[in-house]
Amino acid sequence: MLEGLKRLEYRGYDSSGVAVWTENGIKQTKRKGRVVELETALGDDLGGTLGISHTRWATHGDVTATNAHPHTSSDGKFALVHNGVIENYVGMKNFLIEKGYSFKSQTDSEALCNLIAYHYTKEEEEQESAGKNRFLESVRKSLRHVEGTYGIAVICTDYPGELIGARKGSPLILGLGKGENLLASDVNAITHCTQNVVYLNDNEVVHLSNDDFAITTVSCQSVEAVIHQVDWDTSETELGDYKHFMEKEIFEQPTSLQNGMRGRFSDDASTAVFGGLNLTPQELRQIDRILFLACGTAWHSCLVAEYLIERFARIPVEVEYASEFRYRNAPLDKNTLVVAISQSGETIDTLGALREAKRKGYRTLAINNSVGSTIARESDGGIYQHAGPEIGVASTKAFTSQIMICAMLALYLGRLRDLSYGDGVEIVKALKKVPAQVEQILEQNDHIAAIAKRYSKYEDCLFLGRQLMFPIALEGALKLKEISYIHAEGYPAAEMKHGPIALISEECPSVFLATNGETFHKSLANAQEVKARKGKIICIATEGCDIPEGLADETVLVPEAHEIVTPILMSIPVQLLSYHVALERGCDVDKPRNLAKSVTVE
Ligand code: G6P
Repeated sequence: MLEGLKRLEYRGYDSSGVAVWTENGIKQTKRKGRVVELETALGDDLGGTLGISHTRWATHGDVTATNAHPHTSSDGKFALVHNGVIENYVGMKNFLIEKGYSFKSQTDSEALCNLIAYHYTKEEEEQESAGKNRFLESVRKSLRHVEGTYGIAVICTDYPGELIGARKGSPLILGLGKGENLLASDVNAITHCTQNVVYLNDNEVVHLSNDDFAITTVSCQSVEAVIHQVDWDTSETELGDYKHFMEKEIFEQPTSLQNGMRGRFSDDASTAVFGGLNLTPQELRQIDRILFLACGTAWHSCLVAEYLIERFARIPVEVEYASEFRYRNAPLDKNTLVVAISQSGETIDTLGALREAKRKGYRTLAINNSVGSTIARESDGGIYQHAGPEIGVASTKAFTSQIMICAMLALYLGRLRDLSYGDGVEIVKALKKVPAQVEQILEQNDHIAAIAKRYSKYEDCLFLGRQLMFPIALEGALKLKEISYIHAEGYPAAEMKHGPIALISEECPSVFLATNGETFHKSLANAQEVKARKGKIICIATEGCDIPEGLADETVLVPEAHEIVTPILMSIPVQLLSYHVALERGCDVDKPRNLAKSVTVE
């Protein structure tokens, strides 16, 4: 369990706990802070063979050991871990207090645990469940009262060796091992034990022991389990010689980008090929608008996709924050294709938006890195990124791989329309060169680390870029603020003069992202405006760019390349810069404060 928790720590890391079934009742240990605190508190022997554990990202209630999971029912019979949000927990809690149940924590999860205990006692009184498993029945009954989302695992003192799990809205995976079965909210937590997994669906309940399992729905229908084989190499989730996962994942990009392209070009190398779109070329030609939905870094990938698809495929594109789209009730045309981008495939805001689009009858596609994730399974078709597991909370290789997929999608859609054979061939050539070019940029690691050293003390920073560089400016600012806690903003370079220019002083450096192209000289003019106000300038540009002497305080050059791949190449220095600045400031690069890698609450 501890190994699993460590592998899951990127999902939440403010407190953690375990509960183990023993002959003398449930033995529970919880600690504030990282899993290592819990590990120290537990010592060597957990004292049992059945248990549940959790690492928390606080939603309801402060970060304290009491609010950490597992939660126990006030009669001590049940222990539960929960991901998600029980929206009607206040009413539930008041009802249970009236019935004599007491509460220790401020969490919504404890209410569900006590509700299970309540139904368990009632089941006995009413003798309703003759011949049935009372534990299972009371979990099911309680879940029928829940409004909100959950992925839970529960144990009961009266049922040695039995574990019950259920999901609605939050992921839950059953792992089938040798002489052991496991539940987890992410395959990553159990691949060191087994590669055989069953992805549970919403409203399903799984009842398991070490050598058996049965899946039913909350309303008692039985479900046929589909067993999948996870083909992850477990070493992919280990640090190896790197100091941090973020560093490892930045340096893995030549490989992750290569993997995203493998087998995805046509025989004549003039277009991309995707196996899982589930849309014929005829159907794709009828699409007259694409709506991209995502959150966080993936939303920045969508912005790159907007530029690329409009430019190369001439299809109008809109990009929405998934959390906004879901409740905005936007009018869409019937020929709109909805594309959700999500590294984890579990972000609840993105999943909610995808479901809303599906409910309205739109065709949906997912660009996603986690095979078997909920978003991948619920969309009509999709493209896997094949970037390998991303553990660092700040997304790096998943971002560039999403941009790579979007560039290939732009090429594919373009070639179905007006993009010429010759242009297609040029783009394929450019895409194939990317891994080697990224390798070249990574060689500048020490140079970028030296720049980071000189700039790590500033508390504000602007990232400026035009056209395709604007989303990269946004991503650069996000990276810097999320891991080094420096206030940073990304802006279209020309927009700077309409507001952010007020921030420019000796104390606020600017990172300019400038590629050779039609807006290059205009970007330089914007940089001059910064210089004139004594702002320091870090210029990230393509080789061969004519940067006037003395304009930039620092320069990083990336290889000259086709416009379609410049967002990938320019992302690399930006990632390295924020990584080294965060290191200089002594920040926890892989687990920045307050953040979680995959956010399964709204
Ligand atoms: C969280 C992470 C971000 C990520 C976003 C979307 O907020 O901290 O790094 O970009 O979720 O995640 P997804 O898995 O949907 O790409």
